[in-house]
Amino acid sequence: MKNELLHYTMQNEYIDKVRKISYSFFLMHGVKPKYYTHTFGCQQNESDTEKINGMLSDMGYIQTDLRDDADFILYNTCAVREHAENRVFGTIGALTQIKREKPDVIIAFCGCMMQRSDISEELKKKYRHIDIVFGPQAIGRFPENLYKALSSKQRVFDVINENGAITEDIPVKRASRYKAWVSIMYGCNNFCSYCIVPYVRGRERSRDPEMIIDEVSNLVADGYKDITLLGQNVNSFSNDTNNNWNFAKLLRRLNDIDGDFRIRFMTSHPKDATPELIDTIASCSKICNHLHLPFQSGSNRILELMNRKYTREKYLQLVEYAKNSIPDLVLTSDVIVGFPTETKEDFEQTLSLINEVDFQGLYTFIYSIRQGTPAASMEQIDETIKHERFEQLCSLQNIKAKTFNSKYIGKTLRILVEGFSNNDKNMQTGRTDGNIIVNFPMCEAKPGEFINVKIESALNWALFGQAVKQDNI
Ligand code: SAH
Ligand code: SF4
Ligand code: F3S
Repeated sequence: MKNELLHYTMQNEYIDKVRKISYSFFLMHGVKPKYYTHTFGCQQNESDTEKINGMLSDMGYIQTDLRDDADFILYNTCAVREHAENRVFGTIGALTQIKREKPDVIIAFCGCMMQRSDISEELKKKYRHIDIVFGPQAIGRFPENLYKALSSKQRVFDVINENGAITEDIPVKRASRYKAWVSIMYGCNNFCSYCIVPYVRGRERSRDPEMIIDEVSNLVADGYKDITLLGQNVNSFSNDTNNNWNFAKLLRRLNDIDGDFRIRFMTSHPKDATPELIDTIASCSKICNHLHLPFQSGSNRILELMNRKYTREKYLQLVEYAKNSIPDLVLTSDVIVGFPTETKEDFEQTLSLINEVDFQGLYTFIYSIRQGTPAASMEQIDETIKHERFEQLCSLQNIKAKTFNSKYIGKTLRILVEGFSNNDKNMQTGRTDGNIIVNFPMCEAKPGEFINVKIESALNWALFGQAVKQDNI
């Protein structure tokens, strides 16, 4: 098997045409056309938006943070929970006014939510101010779709359900100069019974490992320090091809690249996390000692209904192996409360798993019905109970996280500086190898530099300390 490989240059005809339109705009207005993009959803979407921004820059646009000032407005949407979709509908409504005042503005919606045919049909019929709609699998045809909208003034809907080829060499305009996302695969084959992702992002397609190694090498040469490999389940990397690669081998090869940098990855499905993967993390110094290993539920009955293909016992065995192999391991996870038929006993199993494992951080979600998935037709539970369980879960995790973080007090940790803290402009912030936030008073270190910080106190969401001179460690 080989995935169909496309190149950005195959869009050259349209790229040139859009560039000409942008140039005419510049001649007429004295400024380049401006674009505004906004991302909902996960890192995969963040990464896709960086590609769209890269293509827009390449086609003669400049970025603006002011939506009302833009000539091209794009929202990259998420479909994972109802709340995410409601926010998008709110935005769609607000854009009617802009289009009325500036009829030439191009309004585009892309991302996972657009790949749902009921949604794209609704947008087609009811929201005529939207010019372009495309799904995550159509990103490689963006220049063509933009050109069609600009030249014909016709609305473009590119949401056919295909198995999505991979388009390489798309220019990327990265939001950071030292942190980068690198997708290593697209799509998902797992069909967890609650989840919409496999329906909107298609089947698993792995990138050519050599292209990933090239991309990461170039990033390191450009000064990037923290690189996150992305995939819905990175553990099945290359399973869709007949080459002899796997994810652990990819990590080892990336670890061999010269330079002072970190590699992270997400997400790792427990059913495919192997001892080889854990041993690789343990033995490779540039691979972060951080494992994001979503468990979703602590109850075997619910795990079975979720189609997760592991048991509580298997998960705990894996965690134990990982903790024993990687001394400074930081574990984080995703968990869903209120899955259909979840009983008090099932929920207590989730709490007990949290107590047993000691996660540093948890992404906690209230189950949200996704039409078309198997769980949508299972017996739903009461909303109030869901919310009560959610509160209980969060309170437990807050205590657990603070205890976990407190064990760093008195220790000196290596931090990648990220900039000012959002909460206090007199503080700088950075992250440990385990991805824990560390805040410290202003010092000379600049974003993108590694420094050592001696930890003095800890809360559930962050550590606090003082920068120490290199020779004081
Ligand atoms: N591929 C990744 C994550 C995908 S979505 C993985 O398998 O871990 C991120 C998280 O959203 C999931 O781990 C799950 O906890 C949550 N999620 C997905 N669908 C959901 C739904 N219908 N309701 C509530 N949470 C959901
Ligand atoms: Fe969704 Fe499961 Fe795929 Fe993750 S592994 S994207 S939760 S179906
Ligand atoms: Fe991500 Fe949301 Fe799509 S979580 S994969 S943007 S449905």
